[in-house]
Amino acid sequence: MTSIGGPVVDFRALPKIELHAHLSGSISRQCLHDVWLKKKEVGETDLQDPLIEMPLGKHDYDLNTFFPLFSKYIYNLVNDAWSLTFTTLSVLRDFADDGVVYLELRTTPRAMPHAGLTKAQYVQTILDAIATFEAETPTPSLRTRLILSIDRRNTLPEAREVLALARQFQPHGVVGLDLCGDPARGGIEVFAPVFEEARRDVPDLGITLHFAEAAASGTEEELTMLLGWRPDRIGHVIHVSEAVRAAIIARGDMGLELCLSCNVHAGMICGGFESHHFGEWWQVKETVVVLSTDDVGIFGSPLSNEYALVAEHFGLVRADICALVRRGVDVIFGGDKEKQRLRGILWSE
Ligand code: IMP
Ligand code: ZN
Repeated sequence: MTSIGGPVVDFRALPKIELHAHLSGSISRQCLHDVWLKKKEVGETDLQDPLIEMPLGKHDYDLNTFFPLFSKYIYNLVNDAWSLTFTTLSVLRDFADDGVVYLELRTTPRAMPHAGLTKAQYVQTILDAIATFEAETPTPSLRTRLILSIDRRNTLPEAREVLALARQFQPHGVVGLDLCGDPARGGIEVFAPVFEEARRDVPDLGITLHFAEAAASGTEEELTMLLGWRPDRIGHVIHVSEAVRAAIIARGDMGLELCLSCNVHAGMICGGFESHHFGEWWQVKETVVVLSTDDVGIFGSPLSNEYALVAEHFGLVRADICALVRRGVDVIFGGDKEKQRLRGILWSE
């Protein structure tokens, strides 16, 4: 609880929406440890204990040490339907316990050959876990939708497959398409036809793109191309020139998914929280800023803490906080009915 601008705000109780959270990066270390213990017991893993691999309290992963956490560790531990279901349920519980009432979880479809799981079965397993979670909670306050990610390391056929899966599962809870992955990887122009097809042929599928996350992925050329794919939302938005900033503002109502702790802990911005570009965007009326966690399992800051941080470092008072959350509803991919539900439960100042 923090007292800002008069009335106390309980940031955990504050109903919140989370629009930028990667499934595998949102798994708590304790949950990974539980999976590891279970697998160790039955001789199914040679991996090191996750609590040794990623000690509790360590959050300073940078862009060089962050991506291998997935390819070298988490993907080898969460590698079958059981562990996928177990970790997804744990992630949903964590967001719900933190007061999140609407979650767009994103994930890169991943075949699990060891367990005979196809990419489609991977997506289905996650959707089943979401349905189980909602069915098991008497009056579920958390509603979850899925975004499928194209990773920069993907080939064009793999990217096409992600779009095909998004279309296949759209009636079952997939609401968007994302571009993610190591920003040091270039060559993303190959994905243009996929995003163009999505925009043209599936207009009700939302598009969100990791945008200007690192200097290497912040060239005017790349950013102009990405804006040309007509995304509804963009994530991070760090290395933008004045011209690109003006283009974003001119677009009108663009959602900006800003992730303070991730950017600060990973050293993606210069300085601490007080120098985060949230300060330059949150009062821009033509854009919609949505605070997000990105990878709470890695960076350790739940969404409630992201709100506490902006209150502390940028002086937002209770009315600003409530308005910030409510404004985010405009850019969810979950449709009008969900927007209506949210407008009924989010706090007014
Ligand atoms: P998954 O897609 O559910 O397996 O979540 C982990 C994946 O998300 C990783 O392989 C990363 O490529 C991607 N990811 C997580 N955080 C970031 C980020 O901040 N920028 C770009 N990609 C990310
Ligand atoms: Zn991200």
